[in-house]
Amino acid sequence: MDLQVYETAVEAAHACGLRILSLLEEALRASGGARATVAVSGGSTPKLMFDAMAAASGFDWKNVHVFWVDERAVPPADEQSNYRLAKEALLDKVHIPQRNVHRVHGELEPDSAAKRYREELREFFETGRDGIPCFDVIHCGMGPDAHTASLFPEDPLTEDRLGLAASVFAPKLPHWRVTLLPAVLLNARHTMMLVTGADKADTLHEVVHGEYDAFKRPVQIVQREGRNVSWYLDRAAAARITT
Ligand code: 6PG
Repeated sequence: MDLQVYETAVEAAHACGLRILSLLEEALRASGGARATVAVSGGSTPKLMFDAMAAASGFDWKNVHVFWVDERAVPPADEQSNYRLAKEALLDKVHIPQRNVHRVHGELEPDSAAKRYREELREFFETGRDGIPCFDVIHCGMGPDAHTASLFPEDPLTEDRLGLAASVFAPKLPHWRVTLLPAVLLNARHTMMLVTGADKADTLHEVVHGEYDAFKRPVQIVQREGRNVSWYLDRAAAARITT
């Protein structure tokens, strides 16, 4: 398990952000400069990560395409919008072409937003009907209930291994969301997990040391089955993990 533990949440988020940039640089190089793709999450932790990414000098966003791991069913200017968070903390501060920003249309009715997002993924990644997009980097968080993306405990979507994205009624506000599904999360070249705060310590212990039960602890899908998964933690979140 690639585990990076930092003293504070700010340090963990900064390190995670800079690592994402370096993975995107690698992806750009590997594609001869053509493009790199990243999907980001929402919540409270990513703000610090976006700050670090926005402040990094010399990174060229021209051919980077940004998607979302999940989105709440709210308009893009809403306080709760994951798009708004990334826009204000990062996208407005760097030179990224508008056509490279692939948001989920949270203002639509959730099923229609999910359908539109699936179409956008298929079209951009040219996967055809049944292919699975392959992101260069996916960034995820983890809730104290062990959810990741908007895959919550006991939701049948945790067992879906074919779909790309779906609408979901989450036990947490705002309830309606659109989320990437396990097939897409697991097909990413790199997954960066950014988890901070003492309220995550017990859950992280169960996730890492407990038996595999993705229905109960959806984040274990990524933790146990993902490729190149790196965890960026602060000391408080890492308090109960033994390595
Ligand atoms: C969201 C998310 C969600 C998030 C976790 C962790 O929209 O809520 O993308 O999956 O990553 O809830 O959130 P925090 O970083 O706020 O703890």
